[in-house]
Amino acid sequence: MAGRLIVVSNRIPTGEGGAGGLIVALHDALAGTGGVWIGALPDAADAPGETLQALSEEPYSRLGYTLSQEEMENFYLGFSNSVLWPLCHRRPDLVELRLEYDASYRSVNRRVARLIAGIADPDDTIWVHDYHFFPLAAELRACGLHNRIGFFLHIPFPSLGDLSVLAQPEDFADWLAHYNLVGLQTQADVARALEMFRADPRAEFMMDGTVKFRDRITSVRSFPIGIDVESFQRDAAAEEERPLGREAPETYLIGVDRLDYSKGIPNRFLAFGRYLETRPHGERPCLLQIAPPSREKVQAYHDITRELEEIAGHLNGAFAELDWTPLRYIHRNVPRHRLARLFRGARGCLVTSYADGMNLVAKEYVAAQDPADPGVLILSRLAGAAEELSDALLVNPYDIDDIANAIEQALSMPLPERQRRHASCLAKVKANDAASWARAFLNVLSVVPGTLAWPGGIDQFADGELL
Ligand code: G6P
Repeated sequence: MAGRLIVVSNRIPTGEGGAGGLIVALHDALAGTGGVWIGALPDAADAPGETLQALSEEPYSRLGYTLSQEEMENFYLGFSNSVLWPLCHRRPDLVELRLEYDASYRSVNRRVARLIAGIADPDDTIWVHDYHFFPLAAELRACGLHNRIGFFLHIPFPSLGDLSVLAQPEDFADWLAHYNLVGLQTQADVARALEMFRADPRAEFMMDGTVKFRDRITSVRSFPIGIDVESFQRDAAAEEERPLGREAPETYLIGVDRLDYSKGIPNRFLAFGRYLETRPHGERPCLLQIAPPSREKVQAYHDITRELEEIAGHLNGAFAELDWTPLRYIHRNVPRHRLARLFRGARGCLVTSYADGMNLVAKEYVAAQDPADPGVLILSRLAGAAEELSDALLVNPYDIDDIANAIEQALSMPLPERQRRHASCLAKVKANDAASWARAFLNVLSVVPGTLAWPGGIDQFADGELL
């Protein structure tokens, strides 16, 4: 790659915790390669920030811009998390359409594009992340940038039917077509994206698999995201010297999720209750659920918080004994190195998302296990990770009996079967770590055709030759 790598995402690491999968994976990827990472500062200001503030240079340079209070409400909580998030997670019923959300989404993308255009050199590669920035390439092109621009969507690609819930669904394909490369988590996501282009009369499929959209050419590929396996394994093992002590129960299953309605936590709790009703006499496992708060000002998040408190209360009310609390529900963030140790001590991990781009917790749990005596991953077949981790215990997150049976199976699984399943999953997690994910994406971005298609055929243009 000739110039610098400029990465753009709404959230950038600020050391304040609460990070989702995007931060974890990008930090792991950029720590190895260096580059510039641009994103929003965590605190809103009275007015939108018109400059980039330098945050640090090591191990990569971070630049932040401020969102105004109004943008936090309309761009971040509004269009990003009350329209696009539910839409991509198959919850069109939760979508809230408002004109001010739409306007703010477009204007933040326009401003961020201007800020990037102010620092980008012609040979820099720009890598945009996630649903906050679908229109960013279109805005960057409008600023006159001809750089290679890639996009990676960390969450599921929406279905064609759900997309029609947007006020202007026709913009969506147009936005994406301004990227040279659109990266998605799974093959199923790619199938949905291609279905969208196939249904659009402005799109044409080329012999080389690219999509011609009006006068632009774009490529769509899957790049399943990974974790920094070695560093996570180090954390899991290093803490072994510091025993868990009273931090963790004797026999426990673990769940770790941002508190989000897409994660299927209520069904997980109900399934654990179903398992407890029938558990073999004497077994007293616990479910340790860590679910830090997220986007609390959005009503749907407020509702799920309430719902979980209620289910947790019922569960412990029905099953707790004087010296046993079956469900430990922690509504707080726990540092990653401590999670690694908690994962290692858990007999099983429950990932029961109704929809999930990848779910890095599944991969972290696998990485943290002792291969000689591993725990069992119970994984929703609707999470992106299920495409790779097919030797986990795959469950239907809507089927409470299915999850309850998987809990029973995990807790009674013979060692050789645990070892076989774990070895297969670990091989996949290692083969596709954060660094190789970033490398694969950037390699493809450097060779896909330029974005402009001239009448009479597709030409390939080197960087800087696009006009
Ligand atoms: C998911 C999204 C990320 C997001 C993270 C945390 O992983 O893909 O883009 O940053 O959730 O959500 P938040 O709204 O707190 O940034």
